[in-house]
Amino acid sequence: MRFVSALCFTMTLFVSGVAQADVAAGKSTYAARGCIGCHGAGGVSTVTTNPSLKGRGGDFIRKNLTDFRSGARPSPVMNAMAAGLKDADIENLADYIDSLK
Ligand code: HEC
Repeated sequence: MRFVSALCFTMTLFVSGVAQADVAAGKSTYAARGCIGCHGAGGVSTVTTNPSLKGRGGDFIRKNLTDFRSGARPSPVMNAMAAGLKDADIENLADYIDSLK
C-alpha cells in the first residue's frame, strides 16, 4: 500500500511537471505568434473588437483554434492566425490560457 501511494505521488509530480512545461511553452507561443498583440497580456484584451481569452478554459481554446485552422469557424483574422499552428502549439496555448484563471 505504501508503495502504491508513493507511486501515485511520483506520477502526480510527473504529470504536473509536464503540464507546467506546456503552460510555459504556451506562454512563449502566445507571445511569439503575436496573440498577445490582439488578445492582450494574460489574455485580457484592451481592444473591444478582440475578445479576451482569460477564463475561457482550455477546451474552448482547443476547439476554437482547431476550428479556425480548418475553417470550420470562419474568421478573416483568426483563420490566418491559426493556419500555421501545429497540434502541439494548440495544446500548449490551451494549457496556458486555461492556467489564466
Ligand atoms: C490581429 C489580431 C489578432 C491576433 C494576432 C490573434 N487574434 Fe485571436 N481573435 C481576434 C479576433 C478579432 C477574434 C474574433 C474573431 C471572430 O469571431 O471572427 C479572435 C478570436 C479568437 C478566439 C475565439 C474567442 C471567442 O471568444 O470566440 C481565440 C481562441 C483566439 N482568437 C485565439 C488566438 C490565438 C491563440 C492567437 C495567436 C496564435 C490569436 N488569437 C491571434 C484577433 C486576433
